[in-house]
Amino acid sequence: MWNDAAGYETYVGHWSRSVAPRFLDWLELSTGLRWLDVACGTGAVTAAILERFNPEEVVGLDASSDYLASAQASCRHRRVRFVVGDACVLSFPSTSFDVSVSGLALNFTASDRALAEQHRVVRPGGMIAAYVWDYAGEYEFARRFWNAALSIDPRAAAYDPGRKATICHEQNLRDALDSHAAFGTLRSASIHAPQLMTPAAKPQSAMNKISGTRWWLSDAPESKLASSTTRVSSRRVKPTGMLSMDARVPLSNTSHC
Ligand SMILES: C[S@@+](CC[C@H](N)C(=O)[O-])C[C@H]1O[C@@H](n2cnc3c(N)ncnc32)[C@H](O)[C@@H]1O
Repeated sequence: MWNDAAGYETYVGHWSRSVAPRFLDWLELSTGLRWLDVACGTGAVTAAILERFNPEEVVGLDASSDYLASAQASCRHRRVRFVVGDACVLSFPSTSFDVSVSGLALNFTASDRALAEQHRVVRPGGMIAAYVWDYAGEYEFARRFWNAALSIDPRAAAYDPGRKATICHEQNLRDALDSHAAFGTLRSASIHAPQLMTPAAKPQSAMNKISGTRWWLSDAPESKLASSTTRVSSRRVKPTGMLSMDARVPLSNTSHC
């Protein structure tokens, strides 16, 4: 799924880059820290860390070498390195980071194992922070698709990330982080991040992969496919000819000591 960095950038990377700085500001952290960016993708969070925190080091980890190549190309800095790896089996020694962050990724990993690993590699008193899409609510771009799909085919529920990705519900995200906080404090908040996307951006291919739409589309009879395409198109295009990507991001952070 994660082999089209250019498609990702067109679909959601630019939006990701507008959310990451706001998320990082909310953490209220100091400069000179050692950061781990888990599932860093094309580098949106890593770039924002560099711009804002003058870190001692940032390690961006991701399973996709294609995404990492894109991150490397756009984020060259002597204190940054990118490594291929699995968020659930981190190769770093225990307590080797001050902060671990993860943007828009916990819903794609075995979140419990990924959080346990982050807890292991962050030093006592450090911070674990993450944010995910609000798939069930204000991730409007894909939400409209799924609402249209559900209205014509109940089987679409099995593919809808708003139902499948349970960690994207704020309380579930809080619970997941809380179980790894170990005597620490937990904060959560929402970011409302509207973004206009022009039809010229043609994000469909990446959206099909990332938002799970292709699995249902490949399963749906032709007649339903045509019907859903019509419904989604008629609902999403605004008179300006632009698409609104009006998504709210529940996000959480936790520190432990
Ligand atoms: C939606 S992207 C988010 C990328 C980036 N953090 C951002 O905010 O734009 C999800 C990322 O998770 C990565 N990923 C998924 N499962 C992973 C795993 N088990 N270990 C490491 N990375 C993983 C994918 O390769 C992809 O880059």
